[in-house]
Amino acid sequence: MIQLHDLEFVPYISEETITTAIEELSVQINRDYEEKTPIFLGILNGAFLVASEIIKRFPGACEVSFVKLGSYEGTTTTGKVQTLLGLTQELEGREVIVIEDIIDTGNTLVEIDRILREKKVSGYRIATLFYKPEAYKKELSIDYIGIEIPNYFIVGYGLDYDGLGRNLTQVYKLKK
Ligand code: HPA
Ligand code: MG
Repeated sequence: MIQLHDLEFVPYISEETITTAIEELSVQINRDYEEKTPIFLGILNGAFLVASEIIKRFPGACEVSFVKLGSYEGTTTTGKVQTLLGLTQELEGREVIVIEDIIDTGNTLVEIDRILREKKVSGYRIATLFYKPEAYKKELSIDYIGIEIPNYFIVGYGLDYDGLGRNLTQVYKLKK
């Protein structure tokens, strides 16, 4: 068990399970983007670890960019997605692979979709390490999914509770 701020968390997903899921994601991405020069777009802060693992496994030419969006306060979403650090890279006509740590309500995705349309990308796909189908309320399709989980609040592997826990190499869930 671990404690972050006022809450206790218990181990939930092992590092080995996470690594296997990332390897499977990478096999699909690498096959779909063979001979292309995609731009990987990591969504900060949470996706920094999974982005590095996916990008490391991509054998071809690619570029890397990040954008910082946020909507969570504590363990709940505020519903309002803000751009905290914008995208300066030229994306027009490019193939983009968005990398997310987790997709739950999908509010962030809607904002990403808006940004990428405005930038006139030629196409984009979404990859996420974790996905909460029970929480997802949007229509946008998610192309690459690592691990589906119930509607638990989790920390570790990039995910935080009020800033803490991103460095944990396995994933923990809130203790009941
Ligand atoms: N944990 C941390 N951050 C999150 C989560 C979660 O379960 N869902 C969306 N952002
Ligand atoms: Mg967070």
